[in-house]
Amino acid sequence: MKRPDLVSAGVNLAQHSSLGIGGKADFLARIRSEEDLFRAFEFARDEKLDTFVLGRGTNVLFSDKGFRGLVLKMEPRKMYLFSNDVKELSVEAGALVSTIVGLEAESGFSGFENFAGLPGTVGGAIYGNAGCFGAEFWERMISVRYFDGENFLELKPEDFLFPFSYRSSLFKDHPNWVIISARLRIKEADPRQVAKRVKEIAGQRAERQPVGKDAGCIFKNPLRCSVRVSAGRLIDEAGLKGMRIGNAEISSVHANFFVNLGGAKASDFLELIELTKGRVLERSGILLEEEVIRVGEF
Ligand code: EPU
Repeated sequence: MKRPDLVSAGVNLAQHSSLGIGGKADFLARIRSEEDLFRAFEFARDEKLDTFVLGRGTNVLFSDKGFRGLVLKMEPRKMYLFSNDVKELSVEAGALVSTIVGLEAESGFSGFENFAGLPGTVGGAIYGNAGCFGAEFWERMISVRYFDGENFLELKPEDFLFPFSYRSSLFKDHPNWVIISARLRIKEADPRQVAKRVKEIAGQRAERQPVGKDAGCIFKNPLRCSVRVSAGRLIDEAGLKGMRIGNAEISSVHANFFVNLGGAKASDFLELIELTKGRVLERSGILLEEEVIRVGEF
């Protein structure tokens, strides 16, 4: 099949990742509509290509060797539609969570203050069930529209026993499904109160988390005696803050953030991940599980 215009060949993935790391993808399609998605899938099916769905690339580690297949990069076109009674918001998967947060004070609604400073897209936040300062993304969801490769379908969280849990979702179990859009629950609110809360949360984040080329938290917080403990604290207690391999460094601000100081390789990150797992296991008997998503061949 002839390559559709929306598909580019030989795309450098480093520019699509917050870490600034990654080789080339064979193909990348910028998806701005359901029709685009359909055409990209048709191309992948005809050419027998693996697919990977990408938001803003804020929680991924692309391989230095890149990705053999087609990356579907979700980009927003239509952003927001309020319902008449201002109880919900319809958002495309490629929209940035920070845009919703920015809109809150301006438009007088609340629900997303805890996500202030989260760099990713709505699709990414649903896929990974993003959590910040006690809130989880699924709690705000009314429904999600998605494509399973054949049909456009709708997921309502209440229809499933456990569609979402800590940093997990039904979509993580079905990585080829594509989240298209979501209806999110909002409340009318005093803009001044909302702005105050957003400022508070953004301030806490700036204090506790580094700024730079990173991929958010590298590991999930593990359970110890049924209670989640901070992976950052465990790594810190193992004395690993500031540890470097190549130009990948364990942040001295928050040890669950690994930073690309410039020119780091995915292989440096992988070595640092393995070293960290080993040291934390030795010291605390806990095997850390990665939150960051590896893409491509490692
Ligand atoms: N701590 C240390 N050393 C460190 C990091 C943390 O001692 O290097 C201590 C802190 O002092 C604090 C405790 O550990 O007493 C918890 O730290 P923090 O409040 O930073 O929370 P966290 O459990 O480390 C989680 C999420 C973050 C989220 C924050 C704030 C995970 C894996 N991490 O971190 O999510 O932003 O809470 O709500 O669940 C992400 O998932 O990418 C992420 C950044």
